[in-house]
Amino acid sequence: MEKTFAVLEGDGIGPEIMREALKILNVVQKKYGHTFKLIRASFGASAYFTEGSAFPDKTKHICDEADFILKGPVGLAVEEMHQIPQEDRPEHAAILPLRQRYDTFANFRPVRLPASLRSFSPLKEEVVCDGIDILMIRELVGGIYFGDKLEGAATGMKFARDDCIYTEKDVRRVAIVAFEEARKRKVQLTNIHKANVLATSRFWREIVEDVAKNYPDVPHSSVLVDNAAFQLVVNPTRFNGVMLLENMQGDILTDQAGGIIGSLGLMPSACIGPEKGYVEPAHGSAPDIAGKNIANPYSMIGSIAMLFEECLALPEEAADIWKGIFEVFEKGFITRDLTGPWHSEGKVISTSDFGDRVVQNILGH
Ligand code: IPM
Ligand code: MN
Repeated sequence: MEKTFAVLEGDGIGPEIMREALKILNVVQKKYGHTFKLIRASFGASAYFTEGSAFPDKTKHICDEADFILKGPVGLAVEEMHQIPQEDRPEHAAILPLRQRYDTFANFRPVRLPASLRSFSPLKEEVVCDGIDILMIRELVGGIYFGDKLEGAATGMKFARDDCIYTEKDVRRVAIVAFEEARKRKVQLTNIHKANVLATSRFWREIVEDVAKNYPDVPHSSVLVDNAAFQLVVNPTRFNGVMLLENMQGDILTDQAGGIIGSLGLMPSACIGPEKGYVEPAHGSAPDIAGKNIANPYSMIGSIAMLFEECLALPEEAADIWKGIFEVFEKGFITRDLTGPWHSEGKVISTSDFGDRVVQNILGH
């Protein structure tokens, strides 16, 4: 296969974890006889300081021309971020415009913790049981993120307003993606909502129920978002399968999911649109540990696996990468950012050592 990828390494730990991810891409390309052309482009807070924009026109052009985009985390330390005017900060000027530009409506965030890695979770081993394997599918270009925003004053009272809008098309297309995925994996689907309060959630649930009629083979249920937050902690494996979430609720519960498996560094993701998609870690740029070669590259390497799985439809290559990553953990290696009060002891290795070991494992399969 021949493809061109735009590479946006981003800020903070972005360059380090992207470097490891590209090692993996390279070895898989050779092993399976693909030809991938990589074009680097600047994106994020450092792009704002060097080029005056967090998503420069040149980068837009490179992304337009590429088949897919590999994106690292963005954002700098608080003091540096405060030097950037609100409207020019990467969230508003880069990430949301990137999602909108390629209409990447389906955000896949896998939450995987095999039983062998139970000790990574801050939850008790009895709670994690035989392991967590949830695919969270978050709607990414609609809802309150993209509705009209207003800050103003009326009758002497200041106010702010964010509109939350979902059209039938928005809900239907992401629901179809989620049901297709559940069917393919032969797993249950749990639809998350807040229909007891929000009109948009009642509407969301109605459309999802309608889509469900075409998938009688997929067991599905609906759970209120607040109750889902509770159950994710006391009984996370009850959600093993696919979880379907709207944008804002998905943003919150996917971070919580990172918490239950022990680190946001274990959260890769893929953002899929009708024609193009991009992959990115679901976490920030961790400026506090940047440049120290201690960050775990799992989220970026896992995002490369997702590129193969979800964007290129090459499941064999994806499985090879996942296996290579988990073998490193299973041999007891961890990186320093994964050591915490609840983690069991591990043999601490560097970011680059982690990547090299994944490469060796893939070559050895
Ligand atoms: C995420 C991030 C983004 C979001 C921010 C940085 C705009 O938190 O990808 O989860 O809220 O979607
Ligand atoms: Mn988030």
